[in-house]
Amino acid sequence: MIKIALPDVASTESLAARLVSILPGDKSGFLILLQGELGAGKSTLARAMLQTMGVRGPIPSPTYTLVEPYEVTTDIIYHIDLYRLSGMEELDYLGWDDLRDGLILLEWPERVPQLMQQADLLIKLGYDGDGRTASLTHLSDRGSAMVSGWNR
Ligand SMILES: Nc1ncnc2c1ncn2[C@@H]1O[C@H](COP(=O)(O)OP(=O)(O)O)[C@@H](O)[C@H]1O
Ligand SMILES: [Mg+2]
Repeated sequence: MIKIALPDVASTESLAARLVSILPGDKSGFLILLQGELGAGKSTLARAMLQTMGVRGPIPSPTYTLVEPYEVTTDIIYHIDLYRLSGMEELDYLGWDDLRDGLILLEWPERVPQLMQQADLLIKLGYDGDGRTASLTHLSDRGSAMVSGWNR
């Protein structure tokens, strides 16, 4: 596990940029779980990653739509928020299998515990005074390859 201090929003944005720079070239099916309580900074990190990848214009919260899709050059990215969902069945109903063609940034993975087995990287965010902390845990070989050089 890699621990990172995020004293302000700018440091969360730097983390986002660094994560994007080490994403696998072929991002299809790469699943990143963003875990943490309300206000921990999940959407801030996801938005900054999307902007770094070239998404321009507003990045609406997927809280009500559940899935917000993006296409940047050859990359497909899905920003997902499962807060209002309760289980794998509902996720399947949403068309989960069809979303596996893109990079997925997914908030509230706790709603569907089975996702831990499918995911590549778990990013936990938490409060630390006025700032936040992040921890990165790889959950697959692809995730491991991505963060293996982190402390070098
Ligand atoms: N590293 C940070 N330090 C201080 N405030 C932060 C940090 N990251 C995000 N925030 C702030 O926390 C608030 C909630 O962030 P948000 O990303 O919407 O949380 P979540 O999606 O986890 O509910 C926002 O006002 C955001 O500016
Ligand atoms: Mg959010």
